[in-house]
Amino acid sequence: MTTRFPQTQAFSGPNAPVRIECDIEDLPVDGRLPSDIEGTWYRIGPDPKFAPLAGDDLYVAGDGVISSVKFQNGRVAFKMRYVQTERLLRERAAGRALYGAYRNPFTDDASVAGTNRGTANTTPVWHGGRLLALKEDSLPYELDPDTLETLGVCNFQGQLKSPTFAAHPKLDPETGELFAFSYECDGEATNTVALCVVSPDGKLVREERFEAPYASFMHDFAVTREHIIFLVFPTTADLTRIKSGGAHWVWDDSKDAYAGVMRRDGAVSEMVWFRMPPCYAFHVMNAFTEGDLVNVDLCLADRNPFPGIDDINNAPFNPEAGAPFLTRLTFDLKDSKETRKTRLAPMPGDMPSVAASSAMSRQRVGYYAGLDPSIELHNGGPTGAAFNHLCRVDFESGAFTALHLGKDVTFQEPIHVADSDGSGEGYLLAVADRHDEVMSDIVVLSAANPERGPLATIHLPFRLRNAFHGTWVSSVCRS
Ligand SMILES: [Fe+2]
Repeated sequence: MTTRFPQTQAFSGPNAPVRIECDIEDLPVDGRLPSDIEGTWYRIGPDPKFAPLAGDDLYVAGDGVISSVKFQNGRVAFKMRYVQTERLLRERAAGRALYGAYRNPFTDDASVAGTNRGTANTTPVWHGGRLLALKEDSLPYELDPDTLETLGVCNFQGQLKSPTFAAHPKLDPETGELFAFSYECDGEATNTVALCVVSPDGKLVREERFEAPYASFMHDFAVTREHIIFLVFPTTADLTRIKSGGAHWVWDDSKDAYAGVMRRDGAVSEMVWFRMPPCYAFHVMNAFTEGDLVNVDLCLADRNPFPGIDDINNAPFNPEAGAPFLTRLTFDLKDSKETRKTRLAPMPGDMPSVAASSAMSRQRVGYYAGLDPSIELHNGGPTGAAFNHLCRVDFESGAFTALHLGKDVTFQEPIHVADSDGSGEGYLLAVADRHDEVMSDIVVLSAANPERGPLATIHLPFRLRNAFHGTWVSSVCRS
């Protein structure tokens, strides 16, 4: 039987699988491409090769596809490949899906019991001379940075003992260390977490386990120059439910949220847990310590922001309460009972970023993809509403500016590119999806003034499915 995808939000319209692998040289460009953008933008997202085994599934379950957008000598080349995961290879051999519901191995075909379910669909990371494709429920895959060929599973030369490696590690711009963590280290729905640190040359130098207050969807964490902050929000896992074929994650606001704060030069056993009312954030923009105050800037919602995750009491999804706003959580190390919460920008959104050089210190500027719900929304990505603004926040002046290119254009995650000598604010790159023509462009913006519109627009010859995350690797880093 041929593959036929369900006509659900995750698989139809702009979310319809694309399943293209391609090499395109010299893409057409309108406008002026800044000459100091020289390097490669890697992006990863899900694009299911086969229709889901159970008839439907979450958007986030798709097979990982990596694309590279290479800027060289005023020309732009595009390449896209599936990550050849064990899962994909097994399904391609069978000609159909073999793995069941999202993060539920108990729903798999018996023929793949005990095999690697990882999709490598979330984040590309360049570190220690290696390009890794991450998915938080499994180990990274290493890829060739030029051909995008899959080289194999990366467990850091056998040093990493945990079976998972979360998708949002933090690169220290001063030391070159990569801070990361693993969760569900003892299997599905366990609360075991491991702090991991990778040296600049790619060796795992720390892996220290601890127990979180409960098993939770720990998608991101935060690192400052002095501290590491683990975030535990009440999107929870339960092994009995998973074994019975139920969802891995359920929102349970009978539980409080927690932030575990430890010193970078300390031990996990010294972690201080701050307790907060229920809330949820997928993504951290940045974090910094000033004296006894540890600040984490993140896109925070009052409750579960992902409509694909059900409420434990079957309460309907609440888009207002689930809207994430850029928020500063301030933890006072002298008072572990109090957490200050400050809203930093007026428009909800997600996919926050700062210049790589600003990471772990107080940033002057930050960027994110905004969603003005008063504008006609387009399907796109996991939540059913694609971002319709690209936002810039100046934290010194408080100024908020945003780019909007009309009701039929939505944006994927913006990525910051530094200018060649660091004298200016640099650039932003983002995929702009044109819904009226079912096509995608790449817009190049001045990071200082994204609201003024593209400096250059790069035209792709087809629609790109929404990716999750990207990373910029300048040609200087590769030379
Ligand atoms: Fe993410």
